[in-house]
Amino acid sequence: MCGIIGYCGHRPAVPVLVEGLRRLEYRGYDSAGVGFLHTDGLKVIKAKGKLCELDKKLAQENVFNATSGIGHTRWATHGEPNEPNAHPHVDHTGRLAMIHNGIIENYQEIKKELLAEGVTFKSETDTEVLLNLISKYLQEEGEMLPALSRALNRVEGAYAIAVFDAQNPGVVHAARVSSPLVLGVGTGENFLASDIPAFLPYTRDVVFLEDGELVRIDASSWQVMRVRDLSPVEKKVDTITWDVQAAQKGGHKHFMIKEIFEQPKVIQDCLCGRLATDLDEVRLPELDCLEGAPKRIHIVACGTSFHAGLWGMYLLEQWARIPVQVEIASEFRYRDPILDPDTLIIAISQSGETADTLAGIKLAKQQGLKVLGLCNVVGSSVARESDYVVYTQAGPEISVASTKAMCSQLTALLLLTLHWGSKTGKLDPKIHRDTLHGLRSLPELLEKTLPALRDRAFELAREYSDADSFLYLGRGLYYPLALEGALKLKEISYIHAEGYAAGEMKHGPIALIDPKFPSFAIALDDDLFPKVKSNLVEVQARSGEIIALTNVGLDLEVDHRWDVPRASGPLATFLALPALQLFAYEVADYLGKDVDQPRNLAKSVTVE
Ligand code: F6R
Repeated sequence: MCGIIGYCGHRPAVPVLVEGLRRLEYRGYDSAGVGFLHTDGLKVIKAKGKLCELDKKLAQENVFNATSGIGHTRWATHGEPNEPNAHPHVDHTGRLAMIHNGIIENYQEIKKELLAEGVTFKSETDTEVLLNLISKYLQEEGEMLPALSRALNRVEGAYAIAVFDAQNPGVVHAARVSSPLVLGVGTGENFLASDIPAFLPYTRDVVFLEDGELVRIDASSWQVMRVRDLSPVEKKVDTITWDVQAAQKGGHKHFMIKEIFEQPKVIQDCLCGRLATDLDEVRLPELDCLEGAPKRIHIVACGTSFHAGLWGMYLLEQWARIPVQVEIASEFRYRDPILDPDTLIIAISQSGETADTLAGIKLAKQQGLKVLGLCNVVGSSVARESDYVVYTQAGPEISVASTKAMCSQLTALLLLTLHWGSKTGKLDPKIHRDTLHGLRSLPELLEKTLPALRDRAFELAREYSDADSFLYLGRGLYYPLALEGALKLKEISYIHAEGYAAGEMKHGPIALIDPKFPSFAIALDDDLFPKVKSNLVEVQARSGEIIALTNVGLDLEVDHRWDVPRASGPLATFLALPALQLFAYEVADYLGKDVDQPRNLAKSVTVE
């Protein structure tokens, strides 16, 4: 989704803004722009495409005088991705420039009103409508704060905006509802951005802004107030402990491959401080105020996080004997669900800013339910909206395609299962002990296994990168992995792929099987292996080619065996998952795709 940055300070603002936008590139975008005060007035420079296009235009200008301004990377919602629709937008008087992330739902009604008053528009965006409403109120009120408050109280929808006024150039105003916005507090300079990495080289001191808050920054001060009535809000300054280095590629060709290879550390970090040294207990102090185990669980998430939730359902029901339902957040939020008051909602989100997941949390809270956020980004909206938070501790994930975050979500779900399994007394103590033991050695096993997995993925990718479609098959715990394998392949290589429960294939998709429609099976050593094997025979009977992730010694004849080391029970998932990710990565890289920023996708989906 769109990235926004604002700066007021002592440095030349434009390079700060552009570098900040570069660090927000992972959010996905299709155009970019900056706005600042030039010697001859308000200057806005925009370009369709990647930041290098904006760089080319900026190189022809003298941009070094301005010490404040705003910048934006746009992920199109209203209007096609072209230069007129790119941000910043300028109001019809030419005085204000504004950037926006989100969607203004009632913009058409406001646009009609402004058109009737003679305002003209240069773009198709909802942003330009909101900006002209602010401009109208600024003329009436004479001051920016009451104008902003009036305009924002009128609009419906989601936004993070930042406004720059050419008549007051050392100041930027910003506000948010349901779209991320953080304030970076520096020395003699202050920043606003959609995400912390945008200003991390300059400051680690941040203030997380909440929905309905408005902030005014200049070089030496900042104030937060409520949009509603401009009453002041006391805010705490937090200090970020991770650094820019953690958000760089570290010698890898892409962030995605770097992040896949970080998974051993991710597991270790997620376990850190949560396993008692005597190995007998999982410690989750975050959940101390929850008495015992929940009676029922309803998991709400999107995309890869939804797949992690589905995997969690299999495990929580089997081991902790807690009834679990898993639901895609965009469905849950509009379904008018009947929720038992004993139900604990688990909202899973890497970014913590996914609009549908946040709406699911709000709905559950309106019904009086407690929410546990399983989330990666500290201080994110999911973390703040939830009653309890278990951080997955995967570190910043930059590649749009989620990899290490899912690994951390699975680790956290496994810990929750062990924790609640002992509380319900339903989990066999031997399984509990063996799993904890296995978890301790898992990072090392994965570390050793990853290079060989990559080599095999590389070989298979060359063989199959000309496929038009793929079917991913798995059962039980590996059904969610089949869904995830298919999602990874389609999102970064643009090869069509479907994930199916292997036993469901005969109810329809089997009709697709022919020699040109390969299947990717997850056929690891578990109770369901004989069933999966029979399903694969059905594929072979239709001359379908098969790649199978399996274990040495298992009796399985397919076109391409991919043997992965054994690990006990659900821990095998942690070896299968990177194999799926690496296959998708190698195919996409071989095909020359933009692996870290696939077309049409955004890292943080802050609109519904
Ligand atoms: C896929 C992917 C998306 C996200 C989904 C939810 O690789 O990244 O499917 O998993 O948009 O995002 P979060 O977890 O941030 O809520």
